[in-house]
Amino acid sequence: MPQDLIVGLDIGTTKICAVVGEARENQVDIVGLGCAPTNGALKKGVVVNIENTVRAIRKAVEEAETMAGCEIRSVYAGLGGSQTSVINSHGIIAIKDREVTQADMERVIDTARTVAIPSEREVIHTLVQDFLIDGQDGIKDPVGIHGVRLECKVHIVTAAGPAINNIMRCAQRAGLEVNSIVLQSLAAGEAALTDEEKELGVALLDFGGGTTELAIFAENALRHNFVLPVGGNNLTNDIAVGLPTSLQHAEELKKRQGCCLNALADPDEPMEVPGLAGRQPYSVPRGRLGEIVHLRVAEILNLLSKEVQRARFVHPLHSGAVLTGGTALVEGLPELAGEVFGMHTRIGYPMGVSGLIDVIHDPAYACGVGLVLYGYRTLKKAQQGRSGRWSPRGQRGLWGKLKKWFKEVV
Ligand SMILES: Nc1ncnc2c1ncn2[C@@H]1O[C@H](COP(=O)(O)OP(=O)(O)OP(=O)(O)O)[C@@H](O)[C@H]1O
Ligand SMILES: [Mg+2]
Repeated sequence: MPQDLIVGLDIGTTKICAVVGEARENQVDIVGLGCAPTNGALKKGVVVNIENTVRAIRKAVEEAETMAGCEIRSVYAGLGGSQTSVINSHGIIAIKDREVTQADMERVIDTARTVAIPSEREVIHTLVQDFLIDGQDGIKDPVGIHGVRLECKVHIVTAAGPAINNIMRCAQRAGLEVNSIVLQSLAAGEAALTDEEKELGVALLDFGGGTTELAIFAENALRHNFVLPVGGNNLTNDIAVGLPTSLQHAEELKKRQGCCLNALADPDEPMEVPGLAGRQPYSVPRGRLGEIVHLRVAEILNLLSKEVQRARFVHPLHSGAVLTGGTALVEGLPELAGEVFGMHTRIGYPMGVSGLIDVIHDPAYACGVGLVLYGYRTLKKAQQGRSGRWSPRGQRGLWGKLKKWFKEVV
């Protein structure tokens, strides 16, 4: 595997996708994509069948390898928020020479990180929320500032050991090494949000197949994460039961004609529904499908709205809401979300990369592309911190050492 390739592996409830990015001086080119259905190997974002997960990973990776013309050996793997929890912690140190240095900054983060973590959990991220110098908050980069006392507030994201082990085992059995386990919503935020949105405050909603995940970003940091174990699969089930028809036809009808706002589609337009188990097809007005879709989507949005409003008390969400995940493509969903949350919404297509943009132009790939960007940005930051400049092509030996160093630190 060439050293300048970064691969994201999004292990979702309905599909596993591998995205290959090629690191360039100032950007990432997407050069490969592979996708495979999970066929029930995951339930609500959790691995429930190792064999089928390994098979789907292999298939997705092989497809991505063929497209990119490379061999994939290591990946950044995503982990759903339902398997993670957050501990807020706080560290304080005395500033040695009355001027904050890089070493002071690292020391205060280490101090904040020293909290009791239950033995069955592992830390996957330490996300800095804020630095304070002599009580003054809102400091993003404290290096060079004079003071006596340096404080740091951090968000420690932990995951259950078995959840991490399952992902690692599946990846290893598929012949892959895992560079880092990354919170899915953090990755999706890398690809679907602009820096300005993250600074001004935004609600990122990932409407997947088995889960719907809410992440609040404000002042350039992830502030809150919340997961509902309901997603697009529930919509498909509702349609199959409500019409009735088979799950496969319900899925097709949902994608082709499902609409959660009557104003956007003609509710009286007749629609043909394939009969269940060999029965004759029959006709229903499109409004019937719309009603079923609307009920479930509105239920999800209302449950999330409580969390969004709660987060709004603490962080103004000036940038509104951004919707990622395959279910964000249900017709009328962004408009309905805008109504329920009382804020402007948009669909979060993957951004900030070049190359196969047409192929990845789908909100369902926001997490996969985000994993590549997460890998690129953390490696770049690590290298800049050490050598002062970034050059993925010229220093392949160093790249390997950096990856090792990064794994130890994060
Ligand atoms: N055009 C579309 N219209 C409506 N729904 C769609 C469309 N395309 C995909 N979906 C739905 O999106 C869901 C899959 O989304 P996604 O790939 O983001 O989920 P996932 O990552 O596999 O699952 P999760 O994130 O919940 O673990 C499925 O329920 C699928 O039916
Ligand atoms: Mg997903």
